[in-house]
Amino acid sequence: MNRNKLVVTLFGASGDLAARKLYPAFYRLYKSKQISENFALIGTARREWSDDYFRQMVLESIQSEVEDPKHAEEFVTHFYYQPHDVHDAEHYVKLRNLADKLDKEYAACGNRIFYISLSPALFPVITGHLKGENLLTDNGYNRLIIEKPFGNDYDSACELQAQLEKAFDEEQIYRIDHYLGKGIVHSIYNLRFDNMLMKHVWNKDAIDNIQISLSEEVGVEDRGEYYESFGVAKDMIQNHALQLLALVAMEKPSSNSPEAIRQEKIKVLENLRHYTSTDDILENVVRGQYASSEDGTLPAYRDENNVANDSDTSTFFAAKVEVNLPQWEGVPFYIRSGKRMADKHTEINILFKPTGPNLEPNRFKIEIGPRTAYRIYINQKQVGYDLDAELVPLSYYYSDQQLNEMPADYERLIFECIQGNVSNFTHWLEVANAWKFVDNIIDLWEQMPEPNFPNYKANSWGPEASDKLLKRGNTKWV
Ligand code: BG6
Repeated sequence: MNRNKLVVTLFGASGDLAARKLYPAFYRLYKSKQISENFALIGTARREWSDDYFRQMVLESIQSEVEDPKHAEEFVTHFYYQPHDVHDAEHYVKLRNLADKLDKEYAACGNRIFYISLSPALFPVITGHLKGENLLTDNGYNRLIIEKPFGNDYDSACELQAQLEKAFDEEQIYRIDHYLGKGIVHSIYNLRFDNMLMKHVWNKDAIDNIQISLSEEVGVEDRGEYYESFGVAKDMIQNHALQLLALVAMEKPSSNSPEAIRQEKIKVLENLRHYTSTDDILENVVRGQYASSEDGTLPAYRDENNVANDSDTSTFFAAKVEVNLPQWEGVPFYIRSGKRMADKHTEINILFKPTGPNLEPNRFKIEIGPRTAYRIYINQKQVGYDLDAELVPLSYYYSDQQLNEMPADYERLIFECIQGNVSNFTHWLEVANAWKFVDNIIDLWEQMPEPNFPNYKANSWGPEASDKLLKRGNTKWV
């Protein structure tokens, strides 16, 4: 197969993501021989760097992965640099010439990956020029990798999609949601469909409710400006939380093909119940914004850099979500995400119905981060003479060795893009339906009086209303 023969063009080569994630990911792929002599990468950015300077920078960024310095030196010889102004057509001609030259030198079979690690506003500018200046080849594959955010609401996402489609077909567009690169997230599929123990209880008859919780300890850090226009609903719910929900709620695909998997996820996202009124929102959706911490050491959101001092941006979101599919009738999916919460936890909890009065329900917990683990809570007889049951956990933690060997999120996603496997990239219809869901909430919020922010302390578990939301459903956050 010629798939791993390729020339990658990276827009945003001097950026933070490239140094932190992308170069180490390419190096890990090089170490495991998923890419080798037939691979070249052209880095572009505005700065006037030389190849040597660029290679030095790449070398520094992969230091923690290097076991053999000679091998690392050899790796960086595959890297080339081209200063570039994304608006200048002439520059694309230079890029094309360089890519054609490297294609010959590295026998790359006309295969191209274009990775745009720049502001989404530049996606259509770049793809327009890639097409206009003939950077797409006829004799190999052409793939585009882009990062979130994909638009800022449904309408802007449609516009962006229409622009991209002028240069790339949907199956050539690889939209990264880094949650889909996490190894344990992939495992949801196996856990659900490869275990008799799970397969037959993963439904409305056995499950009481499902909780998806993405809590973060950090605040908005240095991203105040971005966050002000996005807020948690667009930053975490529209993408990561709904992707996890889709994986938990989808039916078994007819095959393991990427198309079949994505089709089932789309079906879930298409069938999320939309809220019908502001009362419906009040009943089922909670928003919050953090105040300073109790001890005053952590600042309030409104005191963060580049944040308005009367900002109404939400940093916390919780909702009872319903999936309008017969197999999920009556099963609430509670999702929440927040900045500056008491702890960093990314986990999914499946709470089963109790089997009798005074019995604790079984629970299945998938810990995505910071630990990578599963736990099943089952009832056993308490030690002693009486027959009372007690709930105990059966746990599986990935070992350090497994975690070490597990491909890192970007490594896995770049590998899958090279393989042409789109399963773990979000399809346009997933993005579109997720936006419709979030837009519906934001539209209704806009019809409501201004929220009474801030309404939770930094380093806490969010506003009281979030606990009340679950209390109304006779449950509580795990
Ligand atoms: C990003 C968000 O997509 O995900 C950030 O923009 C957030 O605001 C991050 O902090 C969380 O990712 P993870 O992998 O640390 O849970």
